[in-house]
This record gives sequence, structure tokens and C-alpha cells, in this order.
Amino acid sequence: MAVFNKKTIEDVDINGRVVLVRVDYNVPLNDKGEITDNYRIATSLPTIRYLLGHGAKRVVLVSHLGRPGGRVDSKYSLGVVADCLRELLSGTQVEFIKFVPGVAGGSSEFLDKVASSSSGSVILLENLRFNPGEEANSEAFARDLVQLTDADLFVQDGFGVLHRESATTNAITRLLPSVAGLLVENEVKALQKAIYDPMRPFLSINGGAKVSDKVGILSNLMSLADSMLIGGAMANCFLKYSGNDVGVSKVEEGQGSALNTFFATRAARRIPLFLPQDVLTVKEIIATAKTEVKPVSKLAKDDIIVDIGPKTTELFLREIEKASTVVWNGNLGITEIEPFANGSKAVAEAIGRKQGALTIIGGGDTAGFVRGLMQQDSSLRYSLISTGGGVALDFIAGKPLPGLVSLQDR
Ligand code: 3PG
Repeated sequence: MAVFNKKTIEDVDINGRVVLVRVDYNVPLNDKGEITDNYRIATSLPTIRYLLGHGAKRVVLVSHLGRPGGRVDSKYSLGVVADCLRELLSGTQVEFIKFVPGVAGGSSEFLDKVASSSSGSVILLENLRFNPGEEANSEAFARDLVQLTDADLFVQDGFGVLHRESATTNAITRLLPSVAGLLVENEVKALQKAIYDPMRPFLSINGGAKVSDKVGILSNLMSLADSMLIGGAMANCFLKYSGNDVGVSKVEEGQGSALNTFFATRAARRIPLFLPQDVLTVKEIIATAKTEVKPVSKLAKDDIIVDIGPKTTELFLREIEKASTVVWNGNLGITEIEPFANGSKAVAEAIGRKQGALTIIGGGDTAGFVRGLMQQDSSLRYSLISTGGGVALDFIAGKPLPGLVSLQDR
């Protein structure tokens, strides 16, 4: 059984130190550039509060936002994040300094601002990816960050970026003592428990659009889980592969060999695999479309699958009822459109009402969907709603995470 063997902020002396913290503030923005979901910011607060509460002289936060490709692009400025952070951390001085070494702003202006900030303050720098050095894992860029901020401790709390090999997940750890923050510790521990020491039966629920991104993970899950459910557009690929006509539903083409591998693993493992038996169909993807429930063997050429059907939902709920560990990643229908969200909603509610089970919701769309439901129904509970997208999947697929590996061992 794997244990969490990395030093955390609880293992080191914080008092009087300038702490550079890598967070993942890559939050979703709407067309107006407003944050539509602040979960990644809210979940970074325990680490920030811990550091301030233990006497940090200054906490300097660094993050990326979007993929500006190594160039300054105001669309991806972290200014909007700073406003949100200020609201969440009310009572603490939060300075946003529009500065990234080598590109945005001037270092003398930066140093002036740092000098005038009070002890115990929080500083957020501008988007790291405005400098190509971040994604290139440049040691020179990491060194500039360390020297200019005068940091003497590095804390990795960006769970969502642990799978990236970048200046603030890797190079920087060669320059400063580097430990995990509380969010990273919490998420990694929950996933380790599911992977290495699950309570059985272990149920894996998978959905979302893409098969190509996830087929390796599915094969790995196949060797961990006791049963597997597949829905969403991902299931369309599986249904088509198994000889069903899926009409004009979304199907990712060219997945034949990946699916061959998946079914070969399944044949060896012989675990129960549940695909949709019935589905909700429309002729047009709009909220007012006329819907029809059909068995998967009876789809017309112009049908579009938008959700799992009621029979499949019942089947999935029975499997959830039996399970003691549930890991769910990927929505089971087009949940952005309410009438097509019923399957995912029923599954989310059934998981959220389980008692004494380990229940993990993978990041991305599923996490956002589940938290939306929790706002309407505060009785729903999950062991972990991950802040990570790709990283949780890489972890489950057994890939080493550069941002975790490079932290100090206990
Ligand atoms: C994420 O949203 O998954 C992380 O912030 C990583 O972002 P990236 O996929 O652009 O590296």
C-alpha cells in the first residue's frame, strides 16, 4: 500500500519565512472574463491560512491561467482571480502585482511594492505562462522567481498541475526546500486510498466526450475496479464498436485499436462492464427538443444520444448501491442542457447519499456539475471532489506526477 511520503507545510518551520506557493488558479471564465467557478481558489485557502497563521513573513502565490503560449495576453491576466481571492480572504492584505520575471511589468516596481507590503500579507503575481520559461521548465526562470521574491521555501499546492513538468513544478524544486501544501496532500491521499487500498466493491464510472484521452486510464481502472459503468459520449464509441447504430450521435472516430486493447484487458479481467441499454435521444441539441427514450439497438439514422435512459439509470444506481468505493469521472449526458442532465443528476445524488463509502469525483466538468447540485441540496456529501482534471486521470493511470515526485521525502 502506497503512503503519502512527502513533507508538507506541517513538517517544516514557517515562522519568518517568505513562502512561494504554486497554486492552480486556472479557473473557468465566461465570455465577459468573469470567473464562473471559484472552487480552485476556495480550496487553496487552508494552505494560505495555515502559512499566515504560522508566522510566514509573506506568502507569494504563483499560478497560470489558460494557455497564453508564452506571451502576454491580457485576456489571461490573473487580476480577476486576485479580486476573488481578496473577497475570500477578507481581513488579509492581498496585493496583485502585475509582474512575471522577464516579461510583464518591471522588477524595480515589483520590489517597491513588495517592500511596502506589510508583514503577513499575500501577494499574487501575474500569469506564469506569460513567460515561455514556465512551460519549458526553465531553471533560469525559476531562479528569477526565487531571487526576486526572496523566497526561502517553496510549497506545491497546485494539484491540477502536478502532471506538468514546468518551472514551478520541477525546476524550482532544485533551488528551494520544497514541500506539499494541504490541498495536494488531501487529494493525493484520497486517490492513493482508492487506488492502493480500496474498500470493495470498487465501482468505476466513466463518461465525458473523449475516449482517446482516457482509454489508458480505463484499462488501468479495469485492473483496479470490481465493476465499470460507461455513459456519456464516451459510451457512444463503445456502443458503435459493439455493433450498434448510434445515429448522428457524437462519436470519436479512429479509436478501434484503443478499444481492442480495452476489451482484451476486460476479457482477461472479466469484470462486469455496463454500457447504456437505453438512451435519451433528440433530433436537435436544444433544450426544447422533443425527447424520446430508445433501446440502444433501435436508434434511427438521425437520432442523437444526449443522456442515458431510465433503465440504464436504474441499473447504474443498483451498482452504486452495492459499491464501497466509487470513482466517477465524466458526465453521462449533455449536462449543460437541463433536460439532458437527469442521468448524471441521479447518479450524483446516489453517490452523494452513500454512507461510509469512499466517493471520489474526478475534476473538470463532473466536479463542476456535482458542486452545482450541492448548492441546491446541502445533504449531498463526497469524500473528494478533485480540483484536478487531467492530473487525477494520470494518477489513476499509474503515471508518475513530476510535480509530486520532486517534493522532499519525509
Ligand atoms: C488544468 O486545468 O487541468 C490544469 O490547470 C492544467 O492546465 P493545462 O492542461 O493547460 O496544463
